[in-house]
Amino acid sequence: MKTITYALIFALSIWLLPAKEMQHPVETQSQNNITFNCLTNHYALLSTRIVHRYRTNNKNDKIRATKLPKGLRWNASKKQVEGKIEQTGNFTYQITAQRAGKKITKDVTLKVSDNLISPTPLMGWMSWNIFQDKISEQNIKKVADLLVSTGLRDAGFDYVLIDDHWHANLRDADGKPLEDLRKFPSGMKSLVDYIHSKGLKAGIYSDAAPQTCGGEFGSLGYESIDAQQYAEWGFDFLKYDYCGAPNNMETAKERYKTMSEALNATGKNFYFNICEWGERKPWLWAANAGGHSWRVSFDSRDTWDHGKYDGSHCGVIQSIDIMKNLDYYAGPNQFNDADMMCVGLYGKGKPSSASGARGMTDTEYQSQFSLWCMFATPLLISFDLSTINKATLDILTNGELIAINQDRLGQQARCVYSHEGHEVYLKDLENGDIAIAILNRNNTKSDFNLKLADINLKSRYKIRDIVAKSDAGILSKTLKASISSHEAKVYRISKLK
Ligand code: GLA
Repeated sequence: MKTITYALIFALSIWLLPAKEMQHPVETQSQNNITFNCLTNHYALLSTRIVHRYRTNNKNDKIRATKLPKGLRWNASKKQVEGKIEQTGNFTYQITAQRAGKKITKDVTLKVSDNLISPTPLMGWMSWNIFQDKISEQNIKKVADLLVSTGLRDAGFDYVLIDDHWHANLRDADGKPLEDLRKFPSGMKSLVDYIHSKGLKAGIYSDAAPQTCGGEFGSLGYESIDAQQYAEWGFDFLKYDYCGAPNNMETAKERYKTMSEALNATGKNFYFNICEWGERKPWLWAANAGGHSWRVSFDSRDTWDHGKYDGSHCGVIQSIDIMKNLDYYAGPNQFNDADMMCVGLYGKGKPSSASGARGMTDTEYQSQFSLWCMFATPLLISFDLSTINKATLDILTNGELIAINQDRLGQQARCVYSHEGHEVYLKDLENGDIAIAILNRNNTKSDFNLKLADINLKSRYKIRDIVAKSDAGILSKTLKASISSHEAKVYRISKLK
């Protein structure tokens, strides 16, 4: 029954989608009005370098920031605010754009804190792709054990996230949510205590409607009671889905805000993951609704290219194509979520293998991991850790790539070149280094020469291949790479004096 409900809700939500928006979820405002197409509310860690990039809907507009707080300055050539602030608190400044006699000014907010919930993207393991409804106390405990014994926890993967289907059939007589005691005989509190005892954090799942995507009870109308129970159980994270909820953006904003306020009212810190699949452009509002990350697409599938993004399935290529338009909408404490990685699944997942997704090669898994690091998106492992092999472990524990994902500047890589199946992504890093990824989307191996001048890099650099973990000499004019089909090379370059 649950499966049927899920299928119906899903089919309906797909049917309701406007086809054009699904393929290119970026804003298309009238070119006559000036609009800022970027974040204007920011978070920063105390005494940590800040970059706020700005753009409008016309690249020729003149942009300028004014009334900047002490420690920040405007970099006109890069159209970005830079610096660092040595004091916690809420700050404001203004950003102005001008075009042919027209001018708009917008207030920007900046919260500087020494304890943001997600200064860098979340890293962990999520139950959905592999276990779907077959979660249990036993297999979740095993995941916690394996995160520790494989070294993944120490590499940074420290959240264990329980997705849908943890629920009993009904709430209790007072409306409190109950766990399914057949799956979790010792109760949620005991499981969360176990997860915590392993030096890990724990996450739970619900939905902003009467039912979850899998047909379990949702939280609409029960937000306070649910948040309180999640807090009492000890959870640190909530993924909040949107199946069965109205299509419009205003309702989504309200429902997410209501839940985030309920979580805050418990007095416990929660990471709040918004999951409405990018349909209502959450990058424009989700941080204000209390989110720390928001899904930008429908569910990831264990395949490189799922063909057209049809509103329900997303191969790696489809996720890349969505993420590549969203780099102006990410920063510390607010990240675009490209969904769980399929690394290590090898076609053995349940939902991740629906609709013919048969798994990927290790090169493709490596590319997914490398690009998810470049995109500063949450890094969520989703396979059965008891099946981990050496190739997968090597991919997931590459500390140099993880450092790119966890870089405290919080930038999402921007696409600076795209031609004949080659794409180049740049990500500025806190210490002044730059990460460069070159992706070969073609089905054949090819040589690629990247002229630094073409991407506005004018210095000499020390270069390191951080996938191969080897120094690659000095880079001054051209970066030459021989790139396999579906491979992404990733380099870290450091300017030489
Ligand atoms: C939706 C979400 C998935 C998963 C399922 C659970 O499809 O996008 O990530 O949480 O619901 O039913």
